[in-house]
Amino acid sequence: MLRLEIRLVVFLAALALLFLLAVEWSVDGRRYGPALSDGDSPRRRSATYRSAGIVSTKTPNKKRQKNYSFDPLPSNVVESVDGFLFFVGYARSGHSIVASFLDAHPNVVIAHEYALFNRWAETPDLFNNRREFLFNTLFNSSHFSAQAGLRQGKGGIKKKGYSLEVPSWYQGTYEGGITMIGDKAGGMTAQVYRRNKDKFVSVYRQLCSTAGVPVYAIHVVRNPYDNIATMLLYNDHVKQTTNVTHKYRNIDALRKQIKAYFVQVESVLDMMKQAGLNDITIHHSSFVKNPKGTMQRVCNSLSVTCSESYLQMVAEHTFSNESQSRHLVEWTPELVKTVEANIAKHPILKHYKFK
Ligand SMILES: *[C@@H]1O[C@H](CO)[C@@H](O)[C@H](O)[C@H]1NC(C)=O
Ligand SMILES: *[C@@H]1O[C@H](CO)[C@@H](O)[C@H](O)[C@H]1NC(C)=O
Ligand SMILES: *[C@@H]1O[C@H](CO)[C@@H](O)[C@H](O)[C@H]1NC(C)=O
Ligand SMILES: *[C@@H]1O[C@H](CO)[C@@H](O)[C@H](O)[C@H]1NC(C)=O
Repeated sequence: MLRLEIRLVVFLAALALLFLLAVEWSVDGRRYGPALSDGDSPRRRSATYRSAGIVSTKTPNKKRQKNYSFDPLPSNVVESVDGFLFFVGYARSGHSIVASFLDAHPNVVIAHEYALFNRWAETPDLFNNRREFLFNTLFNSSHFSAQAGLRQGKGGIKKKGYSLEVPSWYQGTYEGGITMIGDKAGGMTAQVYRRNKDKFVSVYRQLCSTAGVPVYAIHVVRNPYDNIATMLLYNDHVKQTTNVTHKYRNIDALRKQIKAYFVQVESVLDMMKQAGLNDITIHHSSFVKNPKGTMQRVCNSLSVTCSESYLQMVAEHTFSNESQSRHLVEWTPELVKTVEANIAKHPILKHYKFK
């Protein structure tokens, strides 16, 4: 009797061990990153994003994800890369739009929220000196996002007829070669810096030497009042039913959001200076007013050739009016003043007003 029980215990222990090994193996075999992958559960993604101040996350479209396949980049394409790009900034500032347009360029690949700096800081050995692996990982992220529909607008955004997908262009793919590759994870990059400045600088240096090409940082700035209001609406899960006559009111949360936003602004500006980033600043308002001219300027700064038809597509897909979220939220005169005083401290924001 006793022996039977012992055998049973041994059998169950062996089974548990096999199970753990199988889980470990499949995780190792399927994932490119330790911190967060597009296949992670919505809860895990959402917790990671939330800690970076990004609340709304999209989950992969299961149907479109099913047929997912990925062919690694041929080595001549890896060799053709001559610039690397990442985003710095704030959640809900409009950098997704810029990144989605760049990814639609036939020779540009931009991963969608891969959170490269967070992952690199966590596991330095993963990418350091592994150029081909780094580029393939980012290409896979871009490809996966396009195929699984991660750039699709959702909820309120979609209702306004607005999506970040440009189906007939090159999101998730390329043609011929790749001249520019990178990652878009605006809010999360500065988070790495806020947590540990030295680590950020060390990751940035490793990235520069691993990529072996010029590295650029795009900084998208939006009217602070709109950016703060949109962050508040997202954080509080407010639906788009609010409007200029029925504004959303949460003064305490708004006060906290203002503080959090300017902490981010200060860390982004400090980060660009301390790490000596090669930064390109884009004002969301200029982009909406003049998408073609702004994109042309970005292309020039990145030394990427942009065709007339590409610029035309950008112009056609950009919504004609900037969303003035600040008017969907109730402000007190005191809070408007607080923002005004903070804007005055930063030359890059100086032309933004509440009115
Ligand atoms: C590509 O990305 C997807 C989604 O994150 C992941 O499931 C898949 O394992 C990756 N493929 C490779 C070859 O890394
Ligand atoms: C998946 O691929 C198969 C064959 O390649 C195709 O018949 C099927 O329609 C695809 N399914 C989806 C959801 O795209
Ligand atoms: C604002 O929303 C309220 C409540 O949903 C609605 O009754 C009102 O007509 C809306 N006003 C405008 C200007 O859209
Ligand atoms: C955009 O704004 C302008 C001026 O504020 C207005 O005249 C126009 O109707 C708006 N267009 C759309 C599509 O909302």
